[in-house]
Amino acid sequence: MTNGRDTWRSNLGFILATSGAAIGLGNVWRFPTMATLNGGGAFLVPYVALLFLVGVPAVLGEFALGRAASRGPVGAFRALAANPRWGWVGGLAVLTSTVILSYYSVVAGWCVAYVVGYLSGWPALVAQDALVGASTFAQVISTPRASIGWHGLFMALTAGVVIKGVSGGIERVNRVLMPLLLVLLILLIGQVLSLEGSWEGLVWFLTPRWADVTADGVMAALSQIFFSLSLGGGTLITFASYLPRRSDLPRNAVSIAAADATVAVLAGCMVIPALFAFQLPMESGPKLLFEVMTRVFKEMPATRFVGFLFFFLLSIAALTSAISLLEIWATTWIDERRWSRPTAALSGAAFAFALGIPSAVSQVPGSRLTLLGTDFLSALDFIASDLMLPVTSLLIVVFVGWVWGSNKARKELTEGARQFRTASLWEQAVRYILPVAIVLVMLGALVE
Ligand code: TRP
Repeated sequence: MTNGRDTWRSNLGFILATSGAAIGLGNVWRFPTMATLNGGGAFLVPYVALLFLVGVPAVLGEFALGRAASRGPVGAFRALAANPRWGWVGGLAVLTSTVILSYYSVVAGWCVAYVVGYLSGWPALVAQDALVGASTFAQVISTPRASIGWHGLFMALTAGVVIKGVSGGIERVNRVLMPLLLVLLILLIGQVLSLEGSWEGLVWFLTPRWADVTADGVMAALSQIFFSLSLGGGTLITFASYLPRRSDLPRNAVSIAAADATVAVLAGCMVIPALFAFQLPMESGPKLLFEVMTRVFKEMPATRFVGFLFFFLLSIAALTSAISLLEIWATTWIDERRWSRPTAALSGAAFAFALGIPSAVSQVPGSRLTLLGTDFLSALDFIASDLMLPVTSLLIVVFVGWVWGSNKARKELTEGARQFRTASLWEQAVRYILPVAIVLVMLGALVE
């Protein structure tokens, strides 16, 4: 234990919690959408290749920083840099995560609303003819008050876990919820694959087709990998800061990346065949979850059961990610200002709740709350995940590769590792491949 900070009780606990941070809404709606829009099996090829070539090395960079400093993002940069101004990069990571948390919690709140809706059999979700006229979403989340209320409820749940601390809250919750998530996912895939016509979708999605790989597909795969592995927001720095020095960082990074990709692919095996079976179009973002999937469930036999499973799964995935987002804010105030954990967690939750209100309102049917020419939530998502995340990621890799130094980081990664045979390759990756890859992601987002 270093400087009296909280620590993980076991390495498995760390792996589950970090996988919980990685596996989120991004795996369930973003991945299948990206895959479908970029040619199914043709998307899997660059995705898997870049996961190991770019994703894992980037995760290792953040792990090295966090464990070496035993501090959250702000403190880690201050401790390892000669120039204290680097602390600002950590600050930017904290801000980015908190902005993401604000609208993430809004979407997660709707998932919880749908869980309750399926459990109690709301007509909008279960009655065939409820479709006529209004959209399902407009019937379930019909007022700003409802949207804000579910958002508040979800944020309170998140804060409740973070207040309990690293091993007593975050680790404990993930130990139960991550295995449960896998069970729910497998149950759902079973239901979907029993539908006629679903297997064609499965084959289309899973057959790798090298010839169909496109440049757009490669960029989409890269940006998906960064968001999904929670890179750039300080999560990985923070979670690694609670690790003992004997922990095996390279091995952990590979396990977490593999878990994240497995759940993404499994989510694809559920969503894509379902759309094939009913010949429904792929939609992006919340529309896929809250409109298209609810239509799928109405067509399926056990509507209420399947709908409940699906949104319960989403709520769990979102909760474990939201916890990781709030923990970054919390750890920063605990480390830097010696705030108590409850004060730190509640202040972050209050800030993100307030910032989430315009997002919550902007999605209610008929709202005209816009920013940068689009609805407020989408605008905030663009600013945070397409602009702020790549900028912080870039600064983090440049710091690890060139300022703190890839050789020092390599030493950190070797400590506790059973083997790290790709150490030299890793140094090259942090110094050259990663900065280039991140600049590509940024350019890709800007030209769109
Ligand atoms: N990775 C999560 C998802 O796929 C979202 C997330 C959690 C995240 N923590 C993050 C994204 C930190 C960026 C940075 O939904």
